[in-house]
Amino acid sequence: MHCTKFIRRFAVSSGEVLHQIANKTITAAGLTSAVAVFLCLSISVPAQDKPAATPPMGWNSWNHFAERIDDKTVRETADALVSTGLKDAGYIYLNIDDTWEGQRDARGFIHSNEKFPDMKALADYVHSKGLKLGIYSSPGPKTCAGFEGSLGHEEQDAETYAQWGTDYLKYDWCQQPPSNVEQMKAAYTKMHDALAKAGRPIVLSLCQYGWNKVWEWGPSVGGNLWRTTGDISDRYAVMAEIGFNQNGLEKFAGPGHWNDPDMLEVGNGGMNEDEYRTHVSLWAILAAPLIAGNDLTKMTPYTVEILTNREVIAVDQDPLGKQGFRVTQEGPFEVWMKPMADGSKVVGLFNRQRTIEQMAVTFSQIGISGEASVRDLWLKRGLGRFKDKYSAYVPAHGVVLIRVKPQ
Ligand code: GLA
Repeated sequence: MHCTKFIRRFAVSSGEVLHQIANKTITAAGLTSAVAVFLCLSISVPAQDKPAATPPMGWNSWNHFAERIDDKTVRETADALVSTGLKDAGYIYLNIDDTWEGQRDARGFIHSNEKFPDMKALADYVHSKGLKLGIYSSPGPKTCAGFEGSLGHEEQDAETYAQWGTDYLKYDWCQQPPSNVEQMKAAYTKMHDALAKAGRPIVLSLCQYGWNKVWEWGPSVGGNLWRTTGDISDRYAVMAEIGFNQNGLEKFAGPGHWNDPDMLEVGNGGMNEDEYRTHVSLWAILAAPLIAGNDLTKMTPYTVEILTNREVIAVDQDPLGKQGFRVTQEGPFEVWMKPMADGSKVVGLFNRQRTIEQMAVTFSQIGISGEASVRDLWLKRGLGRFKDKYSAYVPAHGVVLIRVKPQ
């Protein structure tokens, strides 16, 4: 029997078992049930099947399409995720952001607006491609774009999302000041509980810009990821300001709960190739969700290559789930490091200056002594064995991303 079904059946008699335990009168049947549930819970869900065991990967409509997202665009994006190889590289969530919301009916149930004639059929289409569908709402009365929010209708909305077949919810704190932490926790807990009651596994993405140090309490309200910053935009200065400011948050991330420095801008045209490489390298070192935000139906080969570099994605998706951090900083030159499950260290030499510059990492700075092999993850080739340090020329606003394996 499936574990959840078993537990649901067990739940009927759990009161009795607890009563028996409390009164030290536990029967053989009671004991068997309790042990079986424990085993069921601990062994039946392989780690990689737990929600967001690694940082979620996918696509979101906001950065490129904003309010111009509709049913047709979502279907075209689903097709493109498959045909461009992004799905095979791991981008499986197709997330509809704000502006899908229509009116509530007399009973209070939300309906999608005219841009999305049949959300269930759309979810079926997305699922038929082997992808998952994400949706968006707000704990307030209105979303950030002024559409219907979930306040007072959390259970109905969760039920609706589950019925449609959605797999991911971005829940965005809109149009209201950052309230005190207890109010915020209560609002997110309410939606988490409503989703749990609706009975479909749905990844919960908190979006409240890092207010009230969300990383300290995000997991306790059931958040699988939480935005740590305001909105990104397609400019090097903004992306760099957000990305390089994540240092220090590494201890709050791990399997099932991730810091989210916002979605990717790769392919939207506002940065050059070196800058987009920096964007993806930094997000990978940060074990950040990789949610593309460009028009997937119109990508240059370069954009596809930068989004689908398997060796860089493997950094982000490493099962150890450690978020990387800054090792050294000298003005605009920053060296970051992410420890990997196989004992290797991924190092980013980031040059935030506008001119090419030579940079180095000393192995002792990353916990490696003596010789190590070095592989360049953008060039996709081994560079050989090096002793004590590795140095390279790093392009303006660019990065050299290497994987260093102790010998
Ligand atoms: C906020 C979020 C964005 C996007 C918009 C939609 O600004 O931070 O990512 O969801 O709302 O209105």
